[in-house]
Amino acid sequence: MNDDERGGERQNEYDENQNSAHHAAAVVSSRLVHHPTRHVLQREEYVLPDVVVDDLVQTHDRLWVPQTETISFHPLLFNVSNGYYVNLLRVKGAGVLSRHKHPGAVHGWVLRGEWRYLEHDWVAKEGSYVFEPPGETHTLVVPEGCDEMITMFHVQGSLNYCDERGDVIKSEDVFDKLDMARKHYESVGLGASYVDNFVR
Ligand SMILES: [Fe+2]
Repeated sequence: MNDDERGGERQNEYDENQNSAHHAAAVVSSRLVHHPTRHVLQREEYVLPDVVVDDLVQTHDRLWVPQTETISFHPLLFNVSNGYYVNLLRVKGAGVLSRHKHPGAVHGWVLRGEWRYLEHDWVAKEGSYVFEPPGETHTLVVPEGCDEMITMFHVQGSLNYCDERGDVIKSEDVFDKLDMARKHYESVGLGASYVDNFVR
């Protein structure tokens, strides 16, 4: 292979990367390996690096941040510059995520298992996409017989937990989630700064 052919091959790889929505500048993988960028990407100045998380469902267990005995989350993106977060929510066994409402929109994609809201008739099953409109109050339930539920959620704004009258008793936004993850990664030996992989 001559230099021109090698150059052409490199250009093709570069084009593939450019065409992918997930070409890597910073990579978080299940193997906790940061892959170097194979090519120098031609970036506009001030453009933030990409975030790529491999193998969503099989990710390393230390990356899951416990919220209760059965509920945990895996950060994918803490977008502090736009006030939203994207994460995987995992419920092991049947369980309930307390009644809550959102001031912003939420998008969900079920990767494993199923769940429903007490306030709705539909069931979100593996492969389902759900849009939760701003202002809605609901209670997520994973039914008996479902060993594990994993859903990717994109949450704009915050998750506001409510009492039975609908009054907010606790709120979680991107900064709260980031703080939880930072403390967890410190406690499991990954180091507090590990969380920075997910911050943009
Ligand atoms: Fe919700």
